[in-house]
Amino acid sequence: MARSALFSFTLLLLCCAAAASSFDDANPIKMVSDGLRELEAQVLQVVGQTRHALSFARFAHRHGKRYETAEEMKLRFGIFSENLKLIRSINKKGLAYKLGVNHFADWTWEEFKTHRLGAAQNCSATLKGNHELTDAVLPETKDWREEGIVTPVKNQGRCGSCWTFSTTGSLEAAYAQAFGKNISLSEQQLVDCAGAFNNFGCHGGLPSQAFEYIKYNGGLETEEAYPYTAKDGECKFSAENVATQVLDSVNITLGAEDELKHAVGLVRPVSVAYQVVNDFRFYNKGVYTSDTCGNTPSDVNHAVVAVGYGVEDGVPYWLIKNSWGADWGDHGYFKMELGKNMCGVATCASYPIVA
Ligand SMILES: *[C@@H]1O[C@H](CO)[C@@H](O)[C@H](O)[C@H]1NC(C)=O
Ligand SMILES: *[C@@H]1O[C@H](CO)[C@@H](O)[C@H](O)[C@H]1NC(C)=O
Ligand SMILES: *[C@@H]1O[C@H](CO)[C@@H](O)[C@H](O)[C@H]1NC(C)=O
Repeated sequence: MARSALFSFTLLLLCCAAAASSFDDANPIKMVSDGLRELEAQVLQVVGQTRHALSFARFAHRHGKRYETAEEMKLRFGIFSENLKLIRSINKKGLAYKLGVNHFADWTWEEFKTHRLGAAQNCSATLKGNHELTDAVLPETKDWREEGIVTPVKNQGRCGSCWTFSTTGSLEAAYAQAFGKNISLSEQQLVDCAGAFNNFGCHGGLPSQAFEYIKYNGGLETEEAYPYTAKDGECKFSAENVATQVLDSVNITLGAEDELKHAVGLVRPVSVAYQVVNDFRFYNKGVYTSDTCGNTPSDVNHAVVAVGYGVEDGVPYWLIKNSWGADWGDHGYFKMELGKNMCGVATCASYPIVA
């Protein structure tokens, strides 16, 4: 009873994990050899001289994939082939973005969702935001990285903690902007300690609720003081290690991209959420757009940081920092079409005030 109640409750949460190697870690597999030639020979032996066999060998080599048995290799090859077809068919459409084979290419979408994504978050509090529009003229384009306040891309690993990385991402930028110093802040403190504010560690949460936690709990420690484990743990918060406070936070009204643009253009990077659908995990470059993702609070399943906007080949975009490592996408970043609340990018957005 208690278990099923908890389950249905967490289904409402924005979970969103995603990262390189942990699913592989759960399936440790020994390759006979590290060499590409040997691997190619092995793959051909297992799957035969079929289409995609050599692409698969190169993929496995490049990403250090290890398959323990021939069965496992066959299974992964089949999934890889399907994903490669998806990637190529989308790339042939001449869309504003391109996909590429990355370390997720031997997982099914179901596996990706299970190990990397959570269900939607109810962020209905943003129905009435508190960001104030002004008459100030927005810059044509914005990239907060150029002002040196955007910290390096991190990797959340196998834990539905995207909301903590979205929180530290916008908070680290706010801190650098206010105090002229880069710091790296603790995601793990949020995973372990922010439960009283409707957050559920590796099972999801919301940046806006994390800001509330930090505000009322007396601050956030550094990454170094409270390091990331990608696992739920007991709260070990220690007030003497606090590196920053959150004085307040601001919510963007649900779907109001004009507010979001005003905030990103004139204030600072903003924590945003959106819905990841199947092809997105293979994003490589360009302006992402989709006719299958939704934009309601119950669609969004991932949280990230909007650090700018611009126009590429006539298509306006949001510039967004992800937490799937710097080798994912465009150096850890992606662009999302701006102007249609694409995938709910303005459905669940908020930013912190630190000074
Ligand atoms: C979100 O929460 C509000 C208030 O608790 C509730 O009225 C609404 O039905 C919820 N929406 C979803 C999609 O769960
Ligand atoms: C912002 O939204 C969160 C929920 O997503 C809510 O807890 C918080 O009170 C809101 N903040 C403001 C200032 O309205
Ligand atoms: C902070 O880090 C960014 C990106 O790594 C860098 O461009 C910037 O110069 C750094 N700022 C300071 C004050 O060290």
